Amino acid sequence: MKKLIFATGNEGKMKEVRMILADLDVEVLSLKEAGIEAEAEENGATFEENAKIKAAEIMKRSGEIVLADDSGLEVDALNKEPGIYSARYMGYDTSYHIKNQNLIRRLEGKTGKERSARFVCAIAAAFPDGRVLTTRGTMEGEIGYEERGENGFGYDPIFYLPEYGCYSGELPLEVKNSLSHRGKALRLMKEELRKLKEEL
Ligand code: IMP
Repeated sequence: MKKLIFATGNEGKMKEVRMILADLDVEVLSLKEAGIEAEAEENGATFEENAKIKAAEIMKRSGEIVLADDSGLEVDALNKEPGIYSARYMGYDTSYHIKNQNLIRRLEGKTGKERSARFVCAIAAAFPDGRVLTTRGTMEGEIGYEERGENGFGYDPIFYLPEYGCYSGELPLEVKNSLSHRGKALRLMKEELRKLKEEL
């Protein structure tokens, strides 16, 4: 295994991915670096399915080993919404301030554990011989009562981490990466790839 493609157009994600996979001794290319344009449609029913669809599609087009992720926020009191629809929740173009205020409003009257939530990330690896592996990482927390912090993106300003006594949006990037669902899923995938390294 000499190189792999991580199927994202997001530079921030690429930076995190390269940092975590650095000791795998593999060249990690973004879609752009691999010269691949379109992304696959995410029409699966789970994070894993979406990640697999994306990875398999790009693997077919490139012939290389491809990693892809799918992530989102699950709020237990809302039947795990927005879940796989996290990016699409209330419309792609709606600001996260509006999405976040809406979630806070929907949890009115609920306290403590009734506000439990988690970030989930599934990573899939699709291999040219047809094999597909998936890993999952989560970060547990609660939906806060207000938006806090200037760091992060998306739902980070309302994601409270009881163990750390702060919001995800208040964590420095390196700290968030060390705790995050994406970091955890990616480190698990790195171990899977390490096991396969000899045969690829
Ligand atoms: P994806 O990158 O297409 O999988 O979309 C994931 C969506 O879930 C993002 O657009 C955010 O709305 C949300 N999300 C995933 N991870 C995080 C995170 O670490 N912080 C805040 N929001 C996140």
